[in-house]
Amino acid sequence: MSAPLLSAKNLSVRFGGVLAVNNVSFDVKPGEVFTLIGPNGAGKTTVFNLISRIYTPTTGEIDYQGPHGKVKLTAQAPQDVATLGIARTFQNIELFEHASVLHNLLIGRHTHRQTGFWQDLFFTQAVRDAELRSREKAEEVIDFLSLQHYRDTFVAGLPYGVRKVVELARALCTEPRLLLLDEPSSGLNVEETDDMAFWIQDIQHELGISVLMVEHDMGLVSKVSDRVLAMNQGEVLATGTPREVQSDPGVIEAYLGTVDDVSSLRRSNSARIGVTTSATTGSSGGAA
Ligand SMILES: Nc1ncnc2c1ncn2[C@@H]1O[C@H](COP(=O)(O)OP(=O)(O)OP(=O)(O)O)[C@@H](O)[C@H]1O
Ligand SMILES: [Mg+2]
Repeated sequence: MSAPLLSAKNLSVRFGGVLAVNNVSFDVKPGEVFTLIGPNGAGKTTVFNLISRIYTPTTGEIDYQGPHGKVKLTAQAPQDVATLGIARTFQNIELFEHASVLHNLLIGRHTHRQTGFWQDLFFTQAVRDAELRSREKAEEVIDFLSLQHYRDTFVAGLPYGVRKVVELARALCTEPRLLLLDEPSSGLNVEETDDMAFWIQDIQHELGISVLMVEHDMGLVSKVSDRVLAMNQGEVLATGTPREVQSDPGVIEAYLGTVDDVSSLRRSNSARIGVTTSATTGSSGGAA
């Protein structure tokens, strides 16, 4: 079996009195889509911020299989995370509003540049080659995500659903080996969410990129995830296939209250929340 791409070991982080992440361990295998689920405030985005080195864990560490071998991610500087092949999108879209789609993608590429200050200043052959490669990559990603129509449009003028795809495009332009997606379907309608599922599957299968995702939409989670980790109040509740995790009684309770609450909710609202009669008996079901 191949070594994990990313291995989080006993991660904890405390903000004052809040233990936002409490002894969380998981592996992301090469080529898989691994999804973190859990109610609001469970600690999912904080896990992403630990991987991105925005936060330093209070305890625990993260190993990562970088382009030049295994590194301790928790010992890296935040600005080096992107050069190790980790890209992310944010829960709240973070794009340059007053720049075109193409320019946003080229700005994303700059984390990838290997040329130095003096080379840039004198516009050396290496700089020209890097610039050319950036433009080729940006055009390739625009084609891959069918953004041709919006290529020269300012982000400020784009519908929300398109902006989400542009954010995804910007992350792909850095040519990541691990892509972190924080709630890729939030704010999207049903059709846009279906499209997002296809993009994620194409990213996994056609580009061979591993995906670590945070997501609330259980339809999307079930469709694209190889494995799921459920968290609540900073702790791991369950890890397994989407079906195993959704039918875990602890997970159902964390989302919906007690198992008795689930029975009445299910009767009144089964279609909307996607919980089936078998959810509490352990064979299938969902919680959203
Ligand atoms: N910088 C911070 N300072 C203080 N508390 C924080 C900070 N970041 C996160 N928290 C707290 O840590 C907990 C986990 O937050 P986090 O954003 O990781 O949750 P989440 O699972 O992503 O929730 P959601 O589904 O709402 O996005 C929350 O109680 C939050 O208030
Ligand atoms: Mg979050």
